Amino acid sequence: MRPGGLTCTAQRRNERGMTHAPSSSARPLRVVRATAPLTGTLRVPGDKSISHRALMFASLARGETRISGLLEGEDVLCTAAAMRALGADAVREGAGCWRVSGPGIGQLREPDTVLDMGNSGTAARLLSGILASHGMTSVMTGDASLRRRPMKRVMDPLAQTGATFLAREGGRLPMAIRGLADPHPLDYRLPVASAQVKSAVLLAGLNAAGQTRVEEPVATRDHTENMLRHFGATVTVTSTPQGGRVIVLEGRPDLVARDIVVPGDPSSAAFPIVAALLVPGSDIVIEGVGLNPLRTGLFTTLRDMGAQLEISGERVEGGEPVGDLHVRASALHGVTVPAERAPSMIDEYPILAVAAAQAAGVSRFCGVEELRVKESDRLAATVALLEANGVQTRVEGDDLMVFGTAGAVPGGGLVQTHMDHRLAMSASVLGLVAQKPVAIDDTAFIDTSFPGYLDLMNTLGAGFSA
Ligand code: S3P
Repeated sequence: MRPGGLTCTAQRRNERGMTHAPSSSARPLRVVRATAPLTGTLRVPGDKSISHRALMFASLARGETRISGLLEGEDVLCTAAAMRALGADAVREGAGCWRVSGPGIGQLREPDTVLDMGNSGTAARLLSGILASHGMTSVMTGDASLRRRPMKRVMDPLAQTGATFLAREGGRLPMAIRGLADPHPLDYRLPVASAQVKSAVLLAGLNAAGQTRVEEPVATRDHTENMLRHFGATVTVTSTPQGGRVIVLEGRPDLVARDIVVPGDPSSAAFPIVAALLVPGSDIVIEGVGLNPLRTGLFTTLRDMGAQLEISGERVEGGEPVGDLHVRASALHGVTVPAERAPSMIDEYPILAVAAAQAAGVSRFCGVEELRVKESDRLAATVALLEANGVQTRVEGDDLMVFGTAGAVPGGGLVQTHMDHRLAMSASVLGLVAQKPVAIDDTAFIDTSFPGYLDLMNTLGAGFSA
């Protein structure tokens, strides 16, 4: 372990390079149906999106930033390692408490080795924006999952700054970037609704003279905009009549260190929430969950399905809305989720599919094509997860349909998680309510976003045993 920090285990993951057959370091799990309700009060780890950004922006600001509640999952530790390789000082002072100071905008140093971003698309794509806007050459790679994911979506706009990219066929990692010390500011309309691409463009704009303008067809999570303002940048946001947004950043701002409190991750809270909704008699409270309106599509959808999900204690912490969630077991019914809601719950579809499988009636999730390019092809993998356990599904174009069993998920299947943390957690929740045990090939990747997940769920009474 490095002094002052937890290590990024991207290298170990790369050595595993696992796709289908579990390797010797895989952590399989067999989940049996819960025999008692889930009860208790808990907190989930810090928000992954905000944690990556906190480390990156703190490295680009003048002065020392103190971060509390940082997610210490493997994805975020890869970002910390990369920022150190670029000359930042990122020191862990206690659980979730980090002190970060950096060389500042335009001042990062050329890394002397390959930057390994592990399993994290967010880390790789956001960092591309920073690397393209510094006068240096860098090389980035990731684990077998990340090396399959499309980087062309950031390479295309970032090349317009004048930076050059060399990647594998189809724009896949490893990728070399020759950045510019004086990049052109971009004016870019996103072809896909992606906060990662939007953020890469804005990050490149930090070291560009003049205004950087990004237009998004649908509003996506705005943590980058919020945090840039928090550090003193001038960012204006206007809504378009079509429901999108235009974001304008004034280049070369004087970013000044400010403390950051990272809220609990709503995408991680989704797993205990759905588990409590499905296991009969359950009653739990999750404290301090981020409630940014561009992240809470799942809560709206679950309520549409009949969930008893109450929010209290709403407050603002570190510039983000936060609250406490009270969840009680509920009889759910099928739902149609409109495509416009997808960006606000894009990571939640696998666990929503589990809720829909246990609900009464058919559910339809419209316009979920982006699921195909996540840590796995989540559309195919979610279908496989459910079908292996006796739940019928159908994919029509970019829509996913789940035929609910009204509380009678057969189970008995083996779930392939394809190096995808959210599939592993979704399968574990399915196992808590299925009639026959559900086998999961590997739960190790849960550590990328939710370290301690199985133990935390066990404190509620889940009864997971590795
Ligand atoms: C993220 C944006 C989303 C999401 C990912 C985190 C971010 O990806 O799926 O887990 O932090 O900006 P896309 O921007 O590709 O939709």
